[in-house]
Amino acid sequence: MLDHLTVVTHPLVQHKLTIMRNKETSTAGFRRLLREISLLLAYEVTRELDMTTATIQTPLREMQAPILDGKKLALISILRAGNGLLDGILELVPAARVGFIGLYRDPETLKPVQYYAKVPDALEDRLVIAVDPMLATGNSSAAAIDLLKEKGAKNIRFLCLLAAPEGVARMKEAHPDVPIVTAAVDECLDHHGYIVPGLGDAGDRMFGTK
Ligand code: URA
Repeated sequence: MLDHLTVVTHPLVQHKLTIMRNKETSTAGFRRLLREISLLLAYEVTRELDMTTATIQTPLREMQAPILDGKKLALISILRAGNGLLDGILELVPAARVGFIGLYRDPETLKPVQYYAKVPDALEDRLVIAVDPMLATGNSSAAAIDLLKEKGAKNIRFLCLLAAPEGVARMKEAHPDVPIVTAAVDECLDHHGYIVPGLGDAGDRMFGTK
């Protein structure tokens, strides 16, 4: 069973994250590194996929070999930055089902408001991995998980690149049953809700917007 928080300290993950944090790294470089790092994080977050065995014939003899069991896993991208993690994971798990959740923050209430949601069927029978590179306040992540639970999901993981302690605490309070996998937990949030030291706005850095 994964702990509530897993920080992936693998040297390749940490090295790539440092290059991504550097403000001199180009949009193309940032995107490539995010795809690479997502493969390594996906390895960690999919550790507990159900397994069974199948009878196969090697060139030498028959054997019982391990294969994945159960329904295809569901990847849920929290728009828009989630798409940067999604692409890499799909290379590793090409048969995964994919959903998207779009949320924006109401400027008056500061609460997340859903503007889009399309998720795979039978979420209750799948491992569901919600992806968003930045777990900042945790409000939109917690709202996305609320929605997934409303749609039936029972076995959920949250995958991000960077987390703030505030976001980890918010998720633990709202969804203690949802393990978080991340490459690092930074110091804090600034007054605009940015993770510090962080890497800036993940969506802007990945798509070249300002
Ligand atoms: N979203 C981002 O893209 N960056 C942050 O630092 C916080 C939220």
